[in-house]
Amino acid sequence: MKPAFYVTTPIYYVNDVPHIGHAYTTVAGDVLARYKRLMGYEVYFLTGSDEHGQKVEKAATTAGETPLELADRVVKRFQALWERLGISHTNFIRTTQERHKKGVAHIFKDILEKGDIYLGEYEDWYCTPCETFWPETQLIDNRCPDCNRPVEKLKEESYFFRMSKYQQMLLDHIEAHPDFIQPKSKRNEIISFVKEGLRDLSVSRTTFYWGIPVPGNEKHVIYVWFDALTNYISALGYPDATPEYQRFWPASVHLIGKDILRFHTVYWPTFLMAAGLPLPEKVFAHGWWTVEGQKMSKSLQNVVEPNMLIDKYGVDVVRYFLLREVPFGLDGDFSHTALVQRLNFDLANDLGNLLSRSTAMAVKYFNGVLPSVAELTEIDLALKKKTGDMVSNVAACMDDLAFSKALQAIWEVVSAGNKYIDETAPWTLAKDPANKDRLATVMYCLLESQRVVHCILSAFMPATAEKALASLGWDETVSKEGLTWGGLKAGATITKAEALFPRYEEKE
Ligand code: MSP
Repeated sequence: MKPAFYVTTPIYYVNDVPHIGHAYTTVAGDVLARYKRLMGYEVYFLTGSDEHGQKVEKAATTAGETPLELADRVVKRFQALWERLGISHTNFIRTTQERHKKGVAHIFKDILEKGDIYLGEYEDWYCTPCETFWPETQLIDNRCPDCNRPVEKLKEESYFFRMSKYQQMLLDHIEAHPDFIQPKSKRNEIISFVKEGLRDLSVSRTTFYWGIPVPGNEKHVIYVWFDALTNYISALGYPDATPEYQRFWPASVHLIGKDILRFHTVYWPTFLMAAGLPLPEKVFAHGWWTVEGQKMSKSLQNVVEPNMLIDKYGVDVVRYFLLREVPFGLDGDFSHTALVQRLNFDLANDLGNLLSRSTAMAVKYFNGVLPSVAELTEIDLALKKKTGDMVSNVAACMDDLAFSKALQAIWEVVSAGNKYIDETAPWTLAKDPANKDRLATVMYCLLESQRVVHCILSAFMPATAEKALASLGWDETVSKEGLTWGGLKAGATITKAEALFPRYEEKE
């Protein structure tokens, strides 16, 4: 049986339309899912939408809609974008679906019955946009320490989750599982936070209605983060012991942005502990994108809309740029100039040209029929070795979710291919029929190395890889076995590849 791999993205709030921040996590999840499938895993890839809570309720009121009408409308924009971006998710969960509500009510009731949720009274400083209560000591100039907006004193009857009880258990877990929170800097941040002490957490609200009612006390709505986090198991069928739940929980990795790290590494694991459920294996927090040096925000009107980028540059260019430009885990800056440079240099010049030059030569010198190889010389063996080493380098990088480094490793082979052409000078070999065998070997090595490159790249740029592999006369499904040198067979039909990526020239 194939090994299982379960990767998730956050579920996105429907009070905002999708921007590159959202596309970033989802593309990363997709690349990981595709890569793991390629490596022989059975992958479950989950994404979805977070549709409850005060923010959605308010946005709906402003828009003159019911919250569900708003959610129905906005969720389509997310789904359409994922379709365009080639996202290969297994399931899309909406928190307004019955299956999800059932899961949330069940886990809440379960923890309540076990005694770790209790009814109490809450009074503290509340930040409405962040839906977070803050103790006075954490306020900065009497404002929300996260978003710097004014907070208000709020008192309400509330259910509490006995999070304090799990402080030591959580620390022990983090200690015993060095990879649980990544990157390392974030792990340290969370350890310090937990060591400062965990307070019991208010997990219900009575100040608004748009949410899942507390079982048995409908005056209360379940706190939006308790609701949202549960998506990772409700989507698999929890509380029922479905085949999906049994096969895929606990998750292999939750991919998230750094702003929601605490919810995923403190709240979520302690909820699971209280319910007696296994914890996810890894939570990885990526950085944030600024835009041309500035924070992305509606008020600055600099929100980068992924559809616009796709229209202008193409899907695979966007996918490549997002993962290549910034090491996963660090903050980065989006600029059109940087994107165009990646497109023109990495994609058009290096990758695209290599394929069109090589396939054009195969057509010219061998009528597009892949010749058989004679003996490999030193220079051929070097290219073969580089290609093989790349496959293992990429595997190591992908284990660390170092997407950018993985792409760099692939590009080393692309550069080596371009250099190989210059050094072997096939056009000179072609002048003398006595060199036919040598020329055949050169063509083979050149094309075979690119076949391996494009098999791996199918995780990053599926449409591009498909075109490239077709022109290389390789029509097998990409697989781990296909990453071994020797996949191309003599007699395969090579066709001249059209430019994979037209250069982008900035118009005045
Ligand atoms: N609904 C919650 C998540 C619940 S998960 C159980 C939420 N939604 S969100 O739509 O506001 O944000 C979703 C993700 O987008 C977060 O991981 C966040 O980090 C990411 N990003 C939002 N803006 C971003 C950037 N400017 N850059 C990178 N990622 C950003 O939070």
